[in-house]
Amino acid sequence: MALPKVLVTRRWPKAVEDQLSKHYDVTLNTGDVPLTPAQFRTALGEYDAILPTVTDNLGPEALDVPKARTRILGNYGVGFSHINETAVKGLGLTVTNTPDVLSDCTADIAMTLLLMCARRAGEGERELRAGDWTGWRPTHLVGTKVAGKTLGIIGFGRIGQEMARRAHFGFGMNILVQNRSRVSADVLSKFNATQVDTVEDLLPQADFVSLHCPGGAANRHLINGARLDLMKPTGILINTARGEVVDERALVQSLSFDTIGGAGLDVFDGEPRINPDLLQCDKLVMLPHLGSATKETREGMGFRVLENLKDFFAGRRPRDLVIGTPMGETSPSMKGKTHELLSS
Ligand code: DGY
Repeated sequence: MALPKVLVTRRWPKAVEDQLSKHYDVTLNTGDVPLTPAQFRTALGEYDAILPTVTDNLGPEALDVPKARTRILGNYGVGFSHINETAVKGLGLTVTNTPDVLSDCTADIAMTLLLMCARRAGEGERELRAGDWTGWRPTHLVGTKVAGKTLGIIGFGRIGQEMARRAHFGFGMNILVQNRSRVSADVLSKFNATQVDTVEDLLPQADFVSLHCPGGAANRHLINGARLDLMKPTGILINTARGEVVDERALVQSLSFDTIGGAGLDVFDGEPRINPDLLQCDKLVMLPHLGSATKETREGMGFRVLENLKDFFAGRRPRDLVIGTPMGETSPSMKGKTHELLSS
C-alpha cells in the first residue's frame, strides 16, 4: 500500500525529519522558506497530511479550495490561532497540536524575561556592548527584587502552572491566577495560589503579570490601554503567549510615560515584523519567539506530531486532536472547545 504523502512546511530537527521519512512519503522544506497561500492551496490537493507551524498563516486565503486531498494538519506547536477554524472545518480537516512537551521551556523563557526586566539585564547588556559602562556605583541600574513579590498569571493551563511552579518554589513569589474557568482547589493549592474572577481584579494587585492564555480573535488586545492603566506604576508585563494578546501601541504609551515599570515580550503582533516604536522602549526586553527553542523541546514537539499522525492514519483518535474528528469529519460536539483544550 502506498505511504501517505506528507508535507513538512518548515525545517524540523533532523532526528524527527529522519523518523518521518522512514514512515511516510515525505516532502521536506529544505530551504526553510515559508509557503505562500498559493503553495498551500496546491499542497491541499497533493498531500494527505500537511505539517504546518506557527509561522504559517493558514487563513481563509490559503485554505480557499473547493475540496482537499489533505485530511490532517499536524501542527508543530501548541498554539493554533494561525489556523482558520471555520475554513478547516469546511474542508473536513482534522487538526492536532503539541501540548505538554513545551510547557517547561516556555515557562523558563517567561521567567527569563521576568528576571531580565526586574534586574534591568537588557539595559545593562546594551550599555556594556556600547562601551558606555563607567563602572560599579551604588545607584547604577538599580532594579527590583523578585523574591516575595506577587505574580499574576493570566491563563492557568499547563504553561501557566509551570510558571507558577518556578515563581513560587524558586523565588518564593505569591501567585494570583485569572482563568476563564474555575481552577480546581487541588491545583491552586499546589502553588498556594489564589484565583481572582477578572483580569481587572488581578492587574492592580500584581507586581508582575505573565500572560499564558491562548491567542486568536477572542483574546486580541486582552491587555489594552485601559487594562495597562490598572497595573502598578512599577508593574512588569511578560508575554510569551501570542503577540495579538497585547495592544502594542498602548504598551508603547505605557512604557514611554512610565505608567508601568517594564515589559518582556517573546511574541509580537504580526511577527516577525516588529512595531518600530517598541525598539525605542528602554524598559522593554524582547526575544525572537524563543519559548520552545531547546533541542529537547523542539524534538519533543516533532515526535508528538509523529504520534498524532500515526494514530490518525491508523483510524484512532489522535491524543492532541484540537479541531475535527479522527475520521476527518467535523464534529458539532467540538465546536467552541478548542480554546479550552489549549488552556487545559
Ligand atoms: C507554540 O507552540 O505555540 C509556540 O508559540 C511555538 O513553540
